[in-house]
Amino acid sequence: MSAPIVEVSHLKQHIGQTVTVRGWVRNARTSKIRFIELRDGSGFVQCVAGAAECDPESYDLAGRLTQEAAITVTGVVQTHPRSGEPEILAKALTLVGDSKDFPITPKEHGIEFLMDNRHLWLRSKRQWAIIRVRHAIVKAIRDFFDGDGFTLLDAPILTPSACEGTSTLFATEYFHEGMAFLSQSGQLYQEPGLAAFGKTYCFGPTFRAEKSKTRRHLTEFWMVEPEIAFGHLEDAIQLGERMMKFIIQRVLESRGEELKILERDLAPLENALAVEYGRMTYTDAVEKLKALGSDIQWGEDFGNDDETILMNATDRPLWVHRFPKVFKAFYMEPDPEDARLALGADLLAPEGYGEIIGGGERASSLDYLLEQIALHGLNRADYEWYLDVRKYGSVPHAGFGLGLERAVAWICKLPHVRETAPYPRMMGTLKP
Ligand code: 4AD
Repeated sequence: MSAPIVEVSHLKQHIGQTVTVRGWVRNARTSKIRFIELRDGSGFVQCVAGAAECDPESYDLAGRLTQEAAITVTGVVQTHPRSGEPEILAKALTLVGDSKDFPITPKEHGIEFLMDNRHLWLRSKRQWAIIRVRHAIVKAIRDFFDGDGFTLLDAPILTPSACEGTSTLFATEYFHEGMAFLSQSGQLYQEPGLAAFGKTYCFGPTFRAEKSKTRRHLTEFWMVEPEIAFGHLEDAIQLGERMMKFIIQRVLESRGEELKILERDLAPLENALAVEYGRMTYTDAVEKLKALGSDIQWGEDFGNDDETILMNATDRPLWVHRFPKVFKAFYMEPDPEDARLALGADLLAPEGYGEIIGGGERASSLDYLLEQIALHGLNRADYEWYLDVRKYGSVPHAGFGLGLERAVAWICKLPHVRETAPYPRMMGTLKP
C-alpha cells in the first residue's frame, strides 16, 4: 500500500489522511485489538490494528511484534478521543528489522547496567526528552551569541599548556613537541581573538581529569565561553544573565513536551526568567554558609555540599563574586579594593544545583600576570603567546564559561550529570 511517509511529529497536519509512519515498537499490547506504541525519533504515536481494518497478514504481524522491532505502519490518522493526540488506525504493517530480547525492558534496571547499555538506553522516552532539551540549549546558545555580534573562534583541543591548573590535565604524547594536553577551557585562545574580533565565543568539548565521582563532574564536557574586549566583571555578569534567560525562554517555548515527560516543575524555570538574579560576595556567602551549618572557613573553595546548602536556601540563580585569589586560576584580575580577592564570578543554579557558570575579569597587566604564572608554578615559556595579548594593546576584558551538561542537569532537574550527554565520560566510564 503506498501512502506518503510522514514523521510522527507532523501527524497533526494529516488528520483524516492515509499515511505511512516508520519507526520502532516501544510497546505492543495484544488482545483482539492490537495496540502498538511506535517511536520514530520525532515523537510517539499509538497505532491501533483491528481485524476489520487491517489486512490479515498485517493483523497477524501486529500480534507478534516484539519490543524495538522496526516496522512501517500505513493507516488513517485520527484524533484519539480522550488524549486529543493523533493515532493511526492501521491498515497495513511491514517488518523492517526484527528485535529479539531487547535488554532494557520496562522493568527497573540498575544504573550500572543502563550506563553499560547507554547506546540502547538512548531509545528510552526519558533519554529522548533529555537529549532533545540538550539540543535546544545548544541551539539557543549559538543563536544567542550569533545574534549578539559575537564571532565564533573555535579553540583547539590539543594544547601545550594548562588553563585551569595542572592537577586535572589529560596528557598525550605529541610527536617531537613533547606532551600535549586536552583542553580544560578555550578561554586562553579567546583572549587573543578580542583584538581581532572584539567579542568572541567558542563552544566545544573540554576535559578535566577530575578524580571526583560526584553528580556534577564529567571528565569530558561541553563549555561555551564568550569573551568581551573592554569588558569588566559587571559586563560578564550581565551577559551571563541575559544568556541564561534566553536559553530558558527557548527551552520553555520549544521543549514543552520533553519537560512534561521529565515531569519538570516549570515554576523555578519561569522564575529564573522573570527575576533579577541574586548577588553575594564570596565573603558574605561564607558567613551565610556558616549560619546554615557548614564548617567552611574563609579562604576555602566551596565544596559541593556548600553549593547545595546555599542554593537550597534561595529561589533564584545566584552570582557569587570576588573570591580569594588562592584557589582561583592565575589569569584573574585582582580586586582593586582588596588585593586578597580576584574579580571572578560564578553563577549557582537554584534547587540545590550549584555552579553552572565560572568566569570574571581577566588580568590585563603583563607584570601582574608574570607574577601569577610564577606563583602558580607554571612555565612562562608555555604562555608567551598568551602574554602577547598584554604587550600589544592590552585592554580590560572579561568572559565566562557555562558548562553545558550542568545547565542541562538543572533545566531538566536531573539527579546526576551522567544523563545529560549522549555518551558521558566520567571517572570509571569509557564505554560504550
Ligand atoms: O569554572 P571553570 O573551571 O572556568 C573555566 O574553565 C574558565 N576558563 C571559563 C571562562 O571563564 N572562559 O569552568 C566553567 C564551567 C563550570 O561552571 C561548570 O559548569 C563547568 O564549566 N565544569 C564542569 N562541568 C562538568 N564536569 C566538570 N568536571 C566541570 N568542570 C567545570
